[in-house]
Amino acid sequence: MDHQDYWAIAEADIEIQNPVTERKLRLLDDYCDIRDGLRVLDIGCGKAWLMRQWAERFDIEGTGLETNPAFLDFARSRSPLRGGLTYLEGPAERFVPEPASYDVVMCLGATFALGGFVSAVEWMVAATKPGGAVVVGDLTTKHRPAVATHQHLPQDSVELAGVMQRHGVEVSAMISASEADFERYASHHRHATVRWVLQHPGHPDEQDVAHKSSDDWNYYLKTVRPYLGWTILVGHKAG
Ligand SMILES: C[S@@+](CC[C@H](N)C(=O)[O-])C[C@H]1O[C@@H](n2cnc3c(N)ncnc32)[C@H](O)[C@@H]1O
Repeated sequence: MDHQDYWAIAEADIEIQNPVTERKLRLLDDYCDIRDGLRVLDIGCGKAWLMRQWAERFDIEGTGLETNPAFLDFARSRSPLRGGLTYLEGPAERFVPEPASYDVVMCLGATFALGGFVSAVEWMVAATKPGGAVVVGDLTTKHRPAVATHQHLPQDSVELAGVMQRHGVEVSAMISASEADFERYASHHRHATVRWVLQHPGHPDEQDVAHKSSDDWNYYLKTVRPYLGWTILVGHKAG
C-alpha cells in the first residue's frame, strides 16, 4: 500500500506527529523569539500544528513543505487568525529556498527528507538569516546496547548538537521526549491502525496495515523503548 495512506490512518487521531507534547512545543515560542513579522519555513510540516499555533497568535509568514496530501488537507482547512500560511505539496528536497531568507527554519521528525541529519542541517542553515533560529527534532540514542547489534542506531543529542555547532549554529536549547511521550506516540499509531483493521475486514490494504502496525509496535517495544530518545535542538545561526 502507499505508505502515505498508512500514515494518514496511523496518525488520524493526532495533530502533533512526533513524541512531544503541546506544552513542550510551546517552549519554542521563547527559544525562537516568535513575534510578528517573522518568516518561518517548516520542512515535513505534516498537519503543521506548531506553525498554525504561531500563526494564530502572531502575524508570521509561514511555508510548510509536505508530501502527504491528507495532512495538508487537514492543515489547509484551518485558517489561522493572524499569520499567513502557504503549504507546498511535494518532496522537500525539490524546494529551493532563497539563501538566508528565513527567520526560523524547522524540521521536526523529517530530516530523512533532506538526506539525514547532517545534510538537513546544512540545507537549513543555508536558508536561515544570520541570527535566525534553526530547529531540528530527531531520533537520538539514549543508551547504547550492552551487546553488539546489527541495528543502525542514531547519534546521541550531544553529538547532534556538535554537528549543528560545526555548521555555524550556536545551540541554545534542547527539548527531550520522555518515555511517556514515546509511549503515547507509539500507542496512538498502534491504536488507530488496530481500529482501522477491525473496521475494514476484506479491504485490499488490510494485511499491509496489520503487518506494518505490528512491526512498528514491536520496533517500539524492543528498540525505541530501551535505547532511543527524541530531541529537539534549537540554535541560532552565527552572524
Ligand atoms: C514525523 S512526521 C512530523 C510532522 C510534523 N513536523 C510534526 O512535528 O507534527 C514527518 C512528516 O514528514 C513528511 N515527509 C516525508 N517525506 C517527506 C519529503 N520527502 N518531503 C517533505 N515531507 C516529507 C511526512 O509525510 C510527515 O508528515
